[in-house]
Amino acid sequence: MKNFIPFILSFLILSCGKTYNPAVVSARKEASDIGVEIMKKGGNAFDAMIAVHLALAVAYPIAGNIGGGGFVVYHTSEGESGSLDFREKAPGNAFKDMYLDENGNVIENMSTLGGAAVGVPGSISGIFEIHSKFGSLPIEDLFQPSIELAKNGFIVTKKQEEALKDKLQDFINVNGSESLFSQNYKQGDTLKNINLSITLDKISKNGPKAFYEGEIAEMIIEEIEESGGIMTVEDLKNYNSVWRDPIKFKYKGLDIISMPLPSSGGILLGQLLKAIEGYDIGQFGHNSVESIQLMVEAERRAYADRSFYMGDPDFNKLPVYELMDDEYVNSRMASFSWDKATLSSEVSHGEVKTIEESDQTTHYSIIDADGNSVSVTTTLNTNYGSKVFVEEGGFFLNNEMDDFSSKPGYPNSFGLIGSKANSIEANKRMLSSMTPTIVLKNKKPSLIVGTPGGSTIITSVFQTILNVYEYGMSMQEAVNAPRVHHQWVPDVVIIEEGGIDSVKDSILKSKNYFIVSLPIKSDSSGMSARSSIGKVDAIFIDENGEVSTGADPRGDDHASILK
Ligand code: DON
Repeated sequence: MKNFIPFILSFLILSCGKTYNPAVVSARKEASDIGVEIMKKGGNAFDAMIAVHLALAVAYPIAGNIGGGGFVVYHTSEGESGSLDFREKAPGNAFKDMYLDENGNVIENMSTLGGAAVGVPGSISGIFEIHSKFGSLPIEDLFQPSIELAKNGFIVTKKQEEALKDKLQDFINVNGSESLFSQNYKQGDTLKNINLSITLDKISKNGPKAFYEGEIAEMIIEEIEESGGIMTVEDLKNYNSVWRDPIKFKYKGLDIISMPLPSSGGILLGQLLKAIEGYDIGQFGHNSVESIQLMVEAERRAYADRSFYMGDPDFNKLPVYELMDDEYVNSRMASFSWDKATLSSEVSHGEVKTIEESDQTTHYSIIDADGNSVSVTTTLNTNYGSKVFVEEGGFFLNNEMDDFSSKPGYPNSFGLIGSKANSIEANKRMLSSMTPTIVLKNKKPSLIVGTPGGSTIITSVFQTILNVYEYGMSMQEAVNAPRVHHQWVPDVVIIEEGGIDSVKDSILKSKNYFIVSLPIKSDSSGMSARSSIGKVDAIFIDENGEVSTGADPRGDDHASILK
């Protein structure tokens, strides 16, 4: 009865025509503002999504893109949920050993830098698919703000100055010293991208064909060929995004909707939440020794499954709901002991050495006045993708091919290893960790959440959900709270600064947990520099329909809300 009264109240309030405050949380203020402006003009959350995506392609070129791909998870005001996969695909000429030399060794950087690293981009296809199914405003209206933004320029932030400087030499090596991004940009500079403005204008007027065929397609292929790639105009022409049934499961009465394969995100999130569901983790306290042990042991087992079982569902028959079965998950947790860490080497095989620092994917969360909720994670993969910049078109191309398993047991940029299920094959989609997610409470949108962070995406979304529903944090607190990560291999628990005190640190160490505290420059375990975990951008809607936001202070992220 106690829970029933607020439910009835919120039902009455919402069904009496009370609407939600439209909100967008994204990596850039410009993008969040543009999204809210679209909704102010009568657009819905899907219209806003398109405008935000394009604005990020302009003002957040490190990850925002038209040369990459991503995933959308949505829940409509009518109660329909779904997902769109606009993930990149391997080119038609791609093959299993394409990154190996004649001795079978992985050729360094080939899957990350230059034309050979590029997967067939999906973002433009995704945008138009969303528009044809859900759009309410003309597509030109959704492109216009970004066309203007590219033409008039955006202001470079301090963090952007640093990130651009960090990759300057790569830009010069790949694109020459005259290229738009091969220049020295400083905080406060206005960065104009006239060519991108022209490209967006063409696509806006002529539709996705203007990107996947003709002049722009030829520009893309030319740049890729010049830097050693194998993609063809046919690959671009044949690209298609795919509507997929989202992963759905329950956690303590909440309905969770997340991304299915080719992202491992939804399945792993399901495994993690089910593995801990039988425990009262809320009582253990945030980042207590017990809660860290429980999360880490669940993560160790789930990431071991990821490595073995997961890949493109269109190329493999994969056990999706079997992996999320309660009995199966509980049986995996049977070896968990409060006394000592389970060694990853006992959970499964495989040795890896490195997790590369990178935060560069981007997530945005949107709700409109009717309650349509959209959760999108999109990426070029690592910072500025392959670094191949299509000069005449004004955009970077992804290096998503690195998300394949180049060789069994060989770690990708995020230290993840894979099996045959994620080996390279022509036209196949590479396995992802992106986890755009929507949580429903009493069938209404309650949390819209996601983050960049490669392999740490899934555990960051997991913890944000726990922070809200188990530890009672506000949306912003849940986003700010220091995060912890484990991914089976390497067998280390990464903890953000301020995440635990020295007492907890020594207790965990005495139980055989190998702790790496951030920030790190590089350390003996072979991990390279890293300062934080994820950049969560999320929206919470309470049972009265009040909207609150969490924009991650680890980046320049920004929440815009229409009051
Ligand atoms: O799809 C994936 O899982 C990766 N390409 C995501 C990359 C990412 O999050 C980069 N930022 N750390």
